[in-house]
Amino acid sequence: MIYSRIAGTGRYLPERILSNRELESMVDTTEEWIRTRTGIERRHIAADNQATSDLAEQAARQAMDAAGVTADDIDFLVVGTTTPDLIFPNVGCLVQRRLGIHGCPAFSLEAACSGFIYALTMADRFVASGAAKCALVIGAETLSRIVDWSDRSTCVLFGDGAGAVVLKPADEPGLLSCHLGADGHYGDLLYHPYGTSRPQKPEDTAQPFIQMKGNEVFKVAVKTLEGIVDQALSANNLERSAIDWLIPHQANIRIIQATARRLDMPMEKVVLTLPDHGNTSAASVPIALDVAVRDGRVKRGDLLLLEAFGGGLTWGSALVRY
Ligand code: UT7
Repeated sequence: MIYSRIAGTGRYLPERILSNRELESMVDTTEEWIRTRTGIERRHIAADNQATSDLAEQAARQAMDAAGVTADDIDFLVVGTTTPDLIFPNVGCLVQRRLGIHGCPAFSLEAACSGFIYALTMADRFVASGAAKCALVIGAETLSRIVDWSDRSTCVLFGDGAGAVVLKPADEPGLLSCHLGADGHYGDLLYHPYGTSRPQKPEDTAQPFIQMKGNEVFKVAVKTLEGIVDQALSANNLERSAIDWLIPHQANIRIIQATARRLDMPMEKVVLTLPDHGNTSAASVPIALDVAVRDGRVKRGDLLLLEAFGGGLTWGSALVRY
């Protein structure tokens, strides 16, 4: 039996940091409201000349270095993103070209904040089936480009960044399980109203920015994430105490605390990057993973629960023996 295992991780955050204090001068908000209601203190914002593929490339290079692999080794490349540079070529192909990788499948997929977990699941299936020997999996976003900077209910939440992992085959797991889910009936709770194919109607008055019914998303998120946690544990016959680290999507500290409570897990066992990065959508889980790997908290052999929840609505989890 072949399993996939994470051989290396990487991340990239743009240089520019936007603090809560600066946001006070942009919209009717306070540093204290943002910090206490969301847990966010600052976020990184891409430079004008940086697109999602630029961030993805840097994270990928770090993950490849950490895994000790080169462009010639990569035979599968997938990027989870909601903010592609272009409609096509897809971000996977743009990154493939930058890294000098030739010939392997390269694509991006849209599952909003769950994009990385969806991408990781695709890569796991290819590696575990023997169809790929070295998969590059990236979550990358420039959400600052689709946020209305005059809307206090959304602009304080999001940030830009990218995270990546390299998956390789192994005799031992590795990725113990991945679970994905979605419910399109909740689509209007969190969405971006513009695309390419839907004809505009006179009643379409929404601006081309993220639209969110935050409070309603919050409630569905907490309930769904509780279900995700239970599903991952029961599929693997594991007790809650078996999990060493929770690596959650970083949307709101109160949502993360609720998930930790469900796991009976102290917050010291939760990797939290929210204060520094805000919500980076598909990038948040791989960034948090890389932070905890590089600062030495996550060690080889640790059991990690990765989870995400986002627009669609979409969700997913991955139980990982690191
Ligand atoms: O990553 C994808 C998934 N996304 C999420 O999981 C996000 C989930 N939702 C949330 O994290 C929270 O719902 C928010 C942080 C977005 C909002 O927090 P909330 O506690 O649900 O606040 P609310 O929307 O119920 O608004 C409470 C009050 C309102 O004022 P009134 O009507 O009570 O007078 C808002 O207008 O807070 C006001 N408010 C703000 N005040 C200061 C909303 N945004 C701000 C702000 N600064 N930035």
